Amino acid sequence: MTSSPRSFVLRHTRVRPVPGLEEVRLHLADEVLPLWHAAQVETGDPDAALPYWAFAWGGGLAIGRYVREHPEAVAGRRVFDLASGSGLCAIAAMRAGASVAAGADIDPFAAAANARANGHRVTAVCRDVLEDDPPEADVILAGDCWYEARLAERVLPWLERARAGGIDVLVGDPGRRYLPADALLELATYEVRTTTVLEDLDLMKGRVYALRATGDRA
Ligand SMILES: C[S@@+](CC[C@H](N)C(=O)[O-])C[C@H]1O[C@@H](n2cnc3c(N)ncnc32)[C@H](O)[C@@H]1O
Repeated sequence: MTSSPRSFVLRHTRVRPVPGLEEVRLHLADEVLPLWHAAQVETGDPDAALPYWAFAWGGGLAIGRYVREHPEAVAGRRVFDLASGSGLCAIAAMRAGASVAAGADIDPFAAAANARANGHRVTAVCRDVLEDDPPEADVILAGDCWYEARLAERVLPWLERARAGGIDVLVGDPGRRYLPADALLELATYEVRTTTVLEDLDLMKGRVYALRATGDRA
């Protein structure tokens, strides 16, 4: 890394309001390929991950809308944002009255991207928490985690352990291939505006689900 992750984020993104959630401001990029290339150069790693953290994804946008509409889901509670990316879910939760919000993402730039511009303290770590026990939290927000088979396989059992331990789990998803529909109870649907830099459509249906306890499933 030639500079700090934070200065890389500041150089390559602009802080902007999020479509449909204008009160939340994130470090966002307009193009993915030039930023990806810059991340490869910055880290010296030709296999550096795509910069997912510089975009607001359909799943996170749906969770953001849900907690704005249903602040009781997070108000006064400890929130953990799994695969936090830009920090969208954690920031939206703080705005909705969460007592504390922490996030984790495996991308080193994601933790640095969690915009301080929102005036809330959101801590994020660069860590694969799926190797750990579930966090000390009251609610886990999992925005757009079901886009890849290997990740999906690991996320569900980890979230199920958290749920069995008494943590509420909210999943936000725009219809990804690996979404475990049988394990979920749909709570709300929103039309969310993402970007055609990453998706085929800029308007998508983002759904929010609660993870059912394993004993409650048919
Ligand atoms: C599609 S983005 C979603 C970001 C954000 N939650 C949102 O909805 O805007 C998925 C994120 O998952 C992160 N990720 C992938 N595998 C992970 C893992 N094992 N632990 C934590 N984060 C992971 C990626 O780095 C990426 O930032």
